[in-house]
Parts: sequence; C-alpha cells; structure tokens
Amino acid sequence: MSKVKTAVIPVAGLGTRFLPATKSIPKEMLPIVDKPTIQYIVEEAWSAGIETVVFVNGHHKSSIEDHFDYAYELEDTLSKRGKEAVADGSRAIADRGAVVSVRQKAPLGLGHAVLAARPVIGDAPFAVLLGDDIIRPPSDSEPAIGQLMEAFDRTGKGQIALMQVPLSEIHKYGAAEGEKDPENAQSFHITALVEKPPPGTEKTDQAVVGRYVLPPSIWSILVETGEGAGGEIQLTDALDTLREQEGLMGCCFRGQRVDAGDKVGYLHANLLEALSRDDLKEPVMNLLKSMVAETNGQ
Ligand code: UTP
Repeated sequence: MSKVKTAVIPVAGLGTRFLPATKSIPKEMLPIVDKPTIQYIVEEAWSAGIETVVFVNGHHKSSIEDHFDYAYELEDTLSKRGKEAVADGSRAIADRGAVVSVRQKAPLGLGHAVLAARPVIGDAPFAVLLGDDIIRPPSDSEPAIGQLMEAFDRTGKGQIALMQVPLSEIHKYGAAEGEKDPENAQSFHITALVEKPPPGTEKTDQAVVGRYVLPPSIWSILVETGEGAGGEIQLTDALDTLREQEGLMGCCFRGQRVDAGDKVGYLHANLLEALSRDDLKEPVMNLLKSMVAETNGQ
C-alpha cells in the first residue's frame, strides 16, 4: 500500500486553445470517444490505489463534479426502460471513489491551483494529475501515477513524470536537466528545472509532463512562489525550489502520453482510444485508410 492516498487534479484553467467549444463546456469534459477526458485521468488515479480525488475547480465548471455524482433522473429513467446495465454504468462512475472539490478563485497558474488544495490535503504527500494529459500505460504495467507513487515510497523524494522529446520541442514544456540513475533506468537525478526554455537555450530533451508526487513541504514553497513565465504562478518554479532544498527526482515512466489539451493531441487521443476498442478498431481503420487514399488522390 502506497503512502500516497490523495490526488489533486487541477481543472480550473480557461481552455482557451479549444474556444469556442470551451465557452460553456470545460475542456476536461470534452469526450474521448464516449468518455470525458477527465474520467480517463480519474480512473488512472483510482487504479493506482488513490482513495480521494481533489478537483481544483473554477466557477464555470460544475459539470465536472456532476459527472462523478449520481444522475438520479437519468439513471431512474434508464432503469424504468429496462436499461439497467447502462444505469449501473452511470452510477459506477460515482461509486468508485471519493471526490472532493475546492475552488481556485482565479486562474493564476498551475502552482496557484495546486496550492488551493492545501486545506484538504494537509500534512501528507499527494499526487497531482493534470486534467488534460492522458497517459496510456503498456498493458503489463502500472498506470503512470502508480509508477511515480512507487518511486516516492522507495526514495522518499518528490517525483515528476519525465518524457523524452525532440530538443526542438522542449521550449513547449518544463525542462528537466540532470542525468539518469546508472542503476535504475526509470530514475532521473534532476539538477535544474526550467519552465519553457526559450529556443536556443535548451540543455535537455527531458520534458516534464502532467504527473507528480509531492511531499507536504511544497506548501510553504508555493506560498512564497511569485509570478513566473506568462505572468502565472508556475508549479515548475516551486518544484525547482523544492529540488534545491531537499532534492527531486524525475520518473521516466512507461506509457504513452498524449496532450488532450492541444487540438492535434486531442484527435490523437480519440484515435488511440478508438483503435484500442474491439468494436471500433476495424471500422475506424477502414475510415482512416479511405481518408488517406482520398487525400493522396487529390
Ligand atoms: P493548461 O495550461 O493546459 O490549461 O493547464 P488551460 O490554461 O486551461 O488551457 P489553455 O492553454 O488556455 O488552452 C493544465 C491543467 O491545469 C489546469 C487546467 O484546467 C488544465 O487541466 N489549470 C491551469 C488550473 O486548474 N488553473 C490554472 O490557473 C491553470
């Protein structure tokens, strides 16, 4: 059993890259095939043994909380129509684990969003999963956040998920400098963290992606963290201070990460999910083949 029992999922961002869809629908509620993006993230946390999920929510996004509650009218109507299995499926989303919600009163950045969960988490280590980063684990492996929880339990050090990207792409990410542990290919000793290094200054191809396990000592650091890149309170800046004070490790997780908060990434996530389902694989492959043939023939 991991020491990490609670996960913070910040979902209070404005989702401007998906306007106008996100004018009234939270980005995290956009479906990947037939499930909202956020459900994949929450299911990852639950399957790693997380007991309580804390959403950091914004005022226009209560549909996220509603999705993890019973929908009495819908479920009752489905039952009366003899669709008990579908009603049970809907209830199961609410039954799987405890969900708590706190508010980030203004979208001032990821560091600010995580800090809003402090009154609920208190003096315990916790996981953070970003509400628009999908990580599909290999079939024989723990979910990504479970791999970070295991590394935290083993080392006692804060963990951040790292993914190798082409050097020319690192300016889009938080960048982790340092070196791999010669004795454990999954562990990375971090010597510096830089949020979105400007092109030409890149020193590493290790990008920070949306999974973290953090000790409670991060709270006092977040309180002191001022505005960083983009005028936002950046989690990366607080993590770099944590690294200086007590060390921080990268976890080169196993799994395929897709940024569902980006248009191409969102389409990619939909195709990966569809191709992983028995009932959709063949029709979607046929559709893709005919679309490619048509486009090439133009
Ligand atoms: P993003 O930067 O991808 O989300 O943050 P965003 O700001 O909503 O998106 P764009 O760039 O405008 O399209 C990653 C996650 O952190 C949350 C977001 O909701 C998203 O799930 N977030 C971000 C917060 O909760 N609060 C913030 O102040 C910023």
